[in-house]
Amino acid sequence: MGKVDVSQLVDNTTGRQSRSIFHEQDIYEQEQERIFGKCWLFLAHESQIPDPGDYFRTFMGEDEVLVIRQKDQSVKAFLNTCTHRGNRVCKADKGNAKQFTCSYHGWSFAADGTLQSVPLEEDAYYNELDKSKFGLHPVCKVDSYKGLIFGNFDPESPTLDDYLGDMKWYLDVWLDAMPEGTELIGSTQKVEYPVNWKLPVENACGDGYHIGWAHAGVMTVATSMDIESLSLGNTKVDSSTAMAGGGMNGHSIISSLDGQSGYAFYPDPSLPVSYLEENRETVISRLGETRGKQFWGSQINMTIFPNVQMLPGLNWFRVYHPKGPGKMEMWTWAMVDKEMSDELKQTVLDNVCRTFGAAGMFDNDDGENFAACTSQNRGLQTRQKDVYTNMGLGKEYSHPEMPGVVSDGLVGEQNQRYFYRRWQEMMAAKDWSTVPNYNSLEEANATRGQN
Ligand code: FES
Ligand code: FE
Repeated sequence: MGKVDVSQLVDNTTGRQSRSIFHEQDIYEQEQERIFGKCWLFLAHESQIPDPGDYFRTFMGEDEVLVIRQKDQSVKAFLNTCTHRGNRVCKADKGNAKQFTCSYHGWSFAADGTLQSVPLEEDAYYNELDKSKFGLHPVCKVDSYKGLIFGNFDPESPTLDDYLGDMKWYLDVWLDAMPEGTELIGSTQKVEYPVNWKLPVENACGDGYHIGWAHAGVMTVATSMDIESLSLGNTKVDSSTAMAGGGMNGHSIISSLDGQSGYAFYPDPSLPVSYLEENRETVISRLGETRGKQFWGSQINMTIFPNVQMLPGLNWFRVYHPKGPGKMEMWTWAMVDKEMSDELKQTVLDNVCRTFGAAGMFDNDDGENFAACTSQNRGLQTRQKDVYTNMGLGKEYSHPEMPGVVSDGLVGEQNQRYFYRRWQEMMAAKDWSTVPNYNSLEEANATRGQN
């Protein structure tokens, strides 16, 4: 394992990426081991499994896992595979169960993973099967941050708190803005795309460049947004108007900083905007002036490395599950503040479905572009030519108040460069002891090439 030398595949100083990172099976396998096998991965929102016995079936990389609320309200996660012959023990997407009985030979597992009963245990196993050795295989670390439950396969990984690091300052703009926190609503909207999983992540982590072009048609007919100011003006503005913050160990945000434009994607933003006006002071008292006035209500793309993205304002929450170098599954939900009225929650859910859900207008634009960015690399000659994220090189700086490596405007590629730098660092590292830690431009520069 770990046989690919990734040192020449990505260059953070020029923004160059080899196309092989979107195409080669060996690189994909190394991602499963060193990224999805070592990073904290989103499992479920607390609101999806509120009661003992509630479960949710999901993926960590290509490994299918079952996330289960325990009697003591803690959460455990297990590989969704029978310890007898490997069958899937739970076929439903979610539900509540006292036990999980395998459909192949009938072994039955409790919610805490222990093997409870085995058919013909006396007659066929002669009562010699040590059931204590055949419980479900647990995900060794499960923890949560303000409603979001994560799992990690690596016992040596940093704590979830350390893993999220300075990104928590931004995450709290949504997760901790209101006293009761957030919840996911609606069904899981699943779409399979012929797309490498990194392409949608790099897009939503920093690519404001494409919005006014790829989405120009949708923006014109289906939002209240001023497309001129979004696509052109922000290339010239200063950090009081729009900014990108990346470099936080691969996590990143981009934000319009205007306190309201997240809701410009609604044909009629009046209901969500009045919610902002009614609760602005509460949020300022909880998070301070900068986050309460500039960030809350703004368009903010938030990315938790490697595969979680959320967009307060537009209120979608999303995870990308890799299914091979050229395939991924995108799962989307609407995430809302619990304090919102039922009417506003329904308005938010409708708008998520309309814009970024399974049949969302914006995702139709993006999916076609991502698919072609993936498929073109099949050509033998084409795949030998590099691609670049070099916009705004050298224009990054440290902000006195905002964490991370900061640059001005919504249009830029610094977050993408730092996303691929983190990808390279994780892919090169055999274990966490050689993974650098950085949350500012100075730290990022000091640790460049460290591993
Ligand atoms: Fe599950 Fe045999 S594979 S009981
Ligand atoms: Fe897009």
